[in-house]
Parts: sequence; structure tokens; C-alpha cells
Amino acid sequence: MDESLEYWDAVAALDWQVELGADEAILDVPVDRFDLPAPAPKPKPATAPVTQAAPVQPAAPAVDTVAISKQLAESAGSMEVLRAALEGFEHCELKRGARNFVFSDGHSSARVMVVGEAPGRDEDQQGKPFVGRAGQLLDKMFAAIGLDRQVDGAGGLYITNMLPWRPPQNRDPKPEELAMMQPFTRRHIELANPDVVVLMGNHACSGLLGRRGITRMRGNWEDVLGKPAMPMFHPAYLLRNPAAKREAWADLLEIKARLG
Ligand code: URA
Repeated sequence: MDESLEYWDAVAALDWQVELGADEAILDVPVDRFDLPAPAPKPKPATAPVTQAAPVQPAAPAVDTVAISKQLAESAGSMEVLRAALEGFEHCELKRGARNFVFSDGHSSARVMVVGEAPGRDEDQQGKPFVGRAGQLLDKMFAAIGLDRQVDGAGGLYITNMLPWRPPQNRDPKPEELAMMQPFTRRHIELANPDVVVLMGNHACSGLLGRRGITRMRGNWEDVLGKPAMPMFHPAYLLRNPAAKREAWADLLEIKARLG
């Protein structure tokens, strides 16, 4: 076999494992798990004469995860309590595969609150939303209207996502994941109490408005918890479709005008 091909296959396999989150080798020498001896068959348990039928276990009651998240979120009286409740929430499978919990960045006193979709690889590594390429573009976009996540007070920007854990291989959030996390995001908005909410892309729109279709929705004010909410093209979309930056710029100017 061509050795360079084997090498690049191995590099690709390693990249794939890093992408999945593998960050250390557990054993000193590799184990070929396809070449292990077959395990010995388990001995059959001795059959005792049946005297009584085994009691039937009742099926575990289905857990209403949306009701649980709603109850937890609504009873959070402060940002710290909400953060802790969300971090401790055990019903979302994404938590098991994520490296870090990603709650927010910026100061919650900011007048503008951005709601994105979910952490990607960089966000999962750093535990902060929008820090990868899309995040750098987001920072530039808001800097153009005088807003900055580093600033506390006027001119600040507060940033969160619909989901606080990275979906595997950056797949789209599932509707049931958005439904389960939506009470937390709503409470997050209530507690931050911004003047304007920005819904970044289709998943933020589905999660908070129950509708999607960003191409038609963008640029038109919506209402989220009594606050003006602007749907915008997600910066990751703008990276793939630079021509749409024109519309994004119009939406940013609309937000700036709204802030007065
Ligand atoms: N995309 C998002 O929607 N959120 C992030 O935090 C990063 C990328």
C-alpha cells in the first residue's frame, strides 16, 4: 500500500477524533480492537424451579423535560441562580458530549442582547459564545454601530445562545432541544432586561418566535417578551454569503436608530 496514503488516512482519523473532543491518549501502546480474542461465552445461570412469577416492574413515567425547565427557569430570581440552574440541568443529552457550558459573554446590563444558536468548536473550548470566526464577524458588525461586548454600560453588548452546549459536529439544534432550552433563554432575557433583542438566524427565531424563514423575517421588528426583537442573518451565513452583508448592515442601522 502507498505509505503516504496510510499516513494521511491516519491524520484524517486523528483530526476526526480531535473534532469529537478526544484530547488525550489513554494507553501507552495502541490496541487493535478488531484483533482481540473473542470473549469466552458467559456461563448459563443454573435454572431453579420457578415458584413465583417475577414482579412486573412498572414502566418509568415519561419525564416532561419542558415542564421541568420551565419550572426551574421561572423560579430563578437572579442571573446567578438562572446560570446555576441551567448548568445543573441534566435532561439535555448535549451536555454529555460538550467540553464546556457556555452561558453568556458581555455585561448583562447592556441595552442590546444577542441570541445565537449554539456553541461551535471554539466556543465549546473556551466556554464563551461567539468567539470563533462567526464571532469575530459579529464583533465587527456591532462595533460598526458603536457596540462592544467588553464595554460595561452604554455601548455594551450582551451575548447568549439558545443552547448552552455544543451539538455534536455542529449539527443543527433539534426542535425538542430548542423547546427544552427555550424557557431558560426567555428567563435570561427577562433578567437581563435589554432594550433590544437580536435574533441571530433561524434557530433563534424558531426558539423564541416559533417561526423561521430568516430571509423574509430579517429587517422586520418582532416582539419577544414585550421587547423589540430584530431577526438578522447569522454571521456564519454572512461568511458563506458575503453579498447578504448589505442587508445585515441595513438591520444594524435599524437597531442603532431604535436605540436613539
Ligand atoms: N454560532 C452561534 O450561534 N453561537 C455561537 O456561540 C457560535 C457560533
